[in-house]
Amino acid sequence: MAHLFDSLKLRGVEFANRVVVSPMCQYSCTNGFATDWHFVHLGSRAVGRAAAVIAEATAVTADGRISPRDLGIWTDDHIEPLRRVFAFVAEQGSVPGIQLAHAGRKASTSEPWNGGKPISPPQGGWTPIAAPSPLAFADGYQVPHALSVPEITALVEAFAAAVRRAHAAGAKLVELHAAHGYLVHSFLSPLSNQRTDQYGGSFTNRIRMLCEVVTAARKVWPEEYPLWVRISATDWTEGGWTVEESVELARILKPLGVDLIDSSSGGNVSSAKIPFGPGYQVAFAEQIRRESGVPTGAVGMITDPAQADQIIRSGQADVVILARQFLRDPYWPLLAARALGTDIQWPVQYERAKQK
Ligand SMILES: Cc1cc2nc3c(=O)[nH]c(=O)nc-3n(C[C@H](O)[C@H](O)[C@H](O)COP(=O)(O)O)c2cc1C
Repeated sequence: MAHLFDSLKLRGVEFANRVVVSPMCQYSCTNGFATDWHFVHLGSRAVGRAAAVIAEATAVTADGRISPRDLGIWTDDHIEPLRRVFAFVAEQGSVPGIQLAHAGRKASTSEPWNGGKPISPPQGGWTPIAAPSPLAFADGYQVPHALSVPEITALVEAFAAAVRRAHAAGAKLVELHAAHGYLVHSFLSPLSNQRTDQYGGSFTNRIRMLCEVVTAARKVWPEEYPLWVRISATDWTEGGWTVEESVELARILKPLGVDLIDSSSGGNVSSAKIPFGPGYQVAFAEQIRRESGVPTGAVGMITDPAQADQIIRSGQADVVILARQFLRDPYWPLLAARALGTDIQWPVQYERAKQK
């Protein structure tokens, strides 16, 4: 039975343990370029011995950013500053990962500390906003432009180009962002996708864009590197995307080359009632893993070493993916191992702090 500090091999990549840093937007870029902030933010969590560190939602096109300060990878110029970050993460024995994203109808907003609200072009935002259908996310958001089929094809190619650049930058793990109401999720859910062409309507049509992105990504992403997809396992709303559909999606994505489903939830319906609490999304990772046979990652209010260990030991997920707890403590794995009585190697520079 695996435990939290057992290694895991996905394709040719070895993860030293089962603790992964969740992608977290830092809103700290100009024109999408990684900065010293990313070096320190991602680098310190690799020093803390996370098995993998996944860089925040990184925009595949400039207008696919959530805010003007998002990280991006829409030109070859974006590669170099990322390369420095990923090289350091890898040097620490952690797997350098990147989440590739397009914000869809939730694009063009301000940073959270400036309100996180939609902004118009005079305020530094942009238009038009891309979506499957002309349905605004919520009050105050722009009514998006319904993408034409050639525009969808161009976006699939933008994802593939981003994957190629991620490889050039030294990433060894790519996570495609198909969750939280952003572009790909908005295609999956019948609440945001009301198209009548081959990209809307039936389940097969709604998942078509994601399947195309995965297929295009796999063509340029090395065979020996894992590809993950983050989904929102449910919209938490009647008539929306369901856990059963998530299971079916996982079964379909596996033969296309997806190695793990990162099982988040929500984000597509602003009024959804979500029962937040410790481990509130773990059951989704468990159900998807059990019913599809595809490895999963559990995320959401996982904070305690025993809780995390239990998720792995009981086979609910293959990895635990922590976000806010890693903001509280970049060295969480070091102290979690100690709490669980497991001996892991600390960075030699910090060895003298290993014993209490
Ligand atoms: C500051 C911050 C930024 C986030 N940015 C992203 C992101 O870029 N991509 C993503 O998929 N989720 C993002 N999330 C969601 C987290 O990855 C995670 O799914 C969520 O916070 C629940 O996990 P937690 O309870 O461990 O924080 C963000 C969360 C926080 C707190």
